[in-house]
Amino acid sequence: MVHSHLNRNISRVFVGRQQELAEFSAALDDAMSGQGRLAMLAGEPGIGKTRTAQELAMMAEGRGTQVHWGRCYEELGTPPYWAWVQTMRSYIEQASTEQLAADMGPGASYIAEIVPEIRGKLQELTTPPSLEPEQARFRLFYSITTFLKNAAHRQPLMLVLDDLHWADQSSLLLLEFVAREIETSRILLVGAYRDVEVSRRHPLSQTLGALVREKLFYRVQLQGLTQQEVTEFVQGNVGITLTPEAAGVMHERTDGNPFFISELTRKVPSENIYNRRPGVGQHHSQRCSRWHRWATYPKPSRLLRTAIPVISFLG
Ligand SMILES: Nc1ncnc2c1ncn2[C@@H]1O[C@H](COP(=O)(O)OP(=O)(O)OP(=O)(O)O)[C@@H](O)[C@H]1O
Ligand SMILES: [Mg+2]
Repeated sequence: MVHSHLNRNISRVFVGRQQELAEFSAALDDAMSGQGRLAMLAGEPGIGKTRTAQELAMMAEGRGTQVHWGRCYEELGTPPYWAWVQTMRSYIEQASTEQLAADMGPGASYIAEIVPEIRGKLQELTTPPSLEPEQARFRLFYSITTFLKNAAHRQPLMLVLDDLHWADQSSLLLLEFVAREIETSRILLVGAYRDVEVSRRHPLSQTLGALVREKLFYRVQLQGLTQQEVTEFVQGNVGITLTPEAAGVMHERTDGNPFFISELTRKVPSENIYNRRPGVGQHHSQRCSRWHRWATYPKPSRLLRTAIPVISFLG
């Protein structure tokens, strides 16, 4: 379900993105009418891929679509297919035993190899025969695709795979396989990734290259918010009306990146950022994770360079 993803790191208002949401809305309509779609959201860190996907998920749920969410992780040791496993767990949590048995059919025992929770609900499952690795993979992919199609037959289905730039090779192969099979299903696949982390030799590049010519594929490149949207963002989140000059500086220095803007507005005007080292006064783990995130961003010093002129406008 999408709800658990709605509380995480979310600013109060959602601004802009009308064009992108309109495109998604059309893709959702197509998917709901039985023309499966694959939508990719690309952009730099903090530009709003996850948040935009959350808005889309709410839109989809509002129209009667079931939404299941999975995220890829950077950490070594993350099991293969992890994002897919999360989407399937989310489905399993809310499905009755009968529904699960009907939607998974004979493929359940293959899927249970990567989602053991299935055995908790379908206790009669046999152990699948041992196969050559390639055959086993085909069986698994086929079983998952059949399951998703069946689930979507019951109720339109949207799956979100976030942070695909960290996806393992197996997850990407599964994505290719599923995408090629859903053209006549009520399925909307949404992927999000940091394009700046995807070089030509990145495995995701190969997946995108393989899918880009498919009819069901489209990609949305998220750009920075406009100056007007920056003003709305600040107004909505901290209740400050920026002067056009301050909005102009903030827009220029942050390139309209919502993460940078929200970091900045968090510090204005209650914290005097000139005299503080970054993160002082915060809980240690919070500080580490925040600065770990900053470290992965292209211009880590942006916050300070931006805050000074903006604060001077705010007085
Ligand atoms: N259009 C928007 N309106 C309001 N807030 C937004 C908008 N887009 C993003 N945000 C907020 O900006 C922050 C960063 O957005 P988000 O986490 O979606 O970025 P991201 O592109 O997914 O970044 P990452 O690559 O690190 O995953 C979040 O707090 C989010 O709620
Ligand atoms: Mg994200």
